[in-house]
Amino acid sequence: MMNNGPVGVFDSGLGGISVLREIKKIMPDEKYIFYGDSLNAPYGTRTDEDVFGLTHCVFEKLMNKGVKAVVIACNTATSVAVRRLRAEYPDVPVIGIEPAIKPAAEQNRGGRVVVMATPVTLRRPKFVNKMNIYSEIAEIIPMPAPEIVEYVESGRLHDEGLEIYVKGLFSRLDGRPADAVVLGCTHFPFASDIIRKAAGPQAKLYDGSAGTARELRRRMIENDLLCDGTEESTVEIINSAGEEQAELSRKLFTGALS
Ligand code: DGL
Repeated sequence: MMNNGPVGVFDSGLGGISVLREIKKIMPDEKYIFYGDSLNAPYGTRTDEDVFGLTHCVFEKLMNKGVKAVVIACNTATSVAVRRLRAEYPDVPVIGIEPAIKPAAEQNRGGRVVVMATPVTLRRPKFVNKMNIYSEIAEIIPMPAPEIVEYVESGRLHDEGLEIYVKGLFSRLDGRPADAVVLGCTHFPFASDIIRKAAGPQAKLYDGSAGTARELRRRMIENDLLCDGTEESTVEIINSAGEEQAELSRKLFTGALS
């Protein structure tokens, strides 16, 4: 009975759809409920307590829908809330997402690794500790980029303003180009073309979505939570801001908007 329940996936808004897409690729038979909290987005410029309160509230909504596991498909919410949520709900696998600094630094030893994320993610101890560890092998450059979130939330993925904003961020790198760029916010993969263009052709992009999807599958196998394949897979997309944002999310999910 429990095995055929849905997996809950959530983000502050539309960004987590980039993670849901990776999850659906490797576990196509499961049922999913995606909850985007666009009404309260962005999370990445709020206080930690605000982010925790909002994350907790969405988490409980998903639990009330009978989810068997929860993916916090938001770097910001993960960095603030994952530890406390795991302690509060020890019986539910809770999977988070973190900026992929480790592979970026290890594969670009001695190089420049730019980590794009929200201001909250970049100031949390989780990130600062990782940055200290990997600064031993590569130059780690934090790059707060909160405005990308706003463009993605409004579906303006190819907007000229977005291009100018991202170009401006990279122009501050004093002429030495980045060898790697970590997309440390789940909204950013939807702006990857613009980011790639601004970072230059030498820069490799790193994104934690596929790793998060694999970690979810590993935890579900470990907890014997995979569905038995007797029921049809469904993807329910809910958004706190209403049907328009939910529809935009569905378009991102199917690739109708890319
Ligand atoms: N998508 C979220 C993340 O991965 C943040 C977006 C926001 O600021 O709400 O960090």
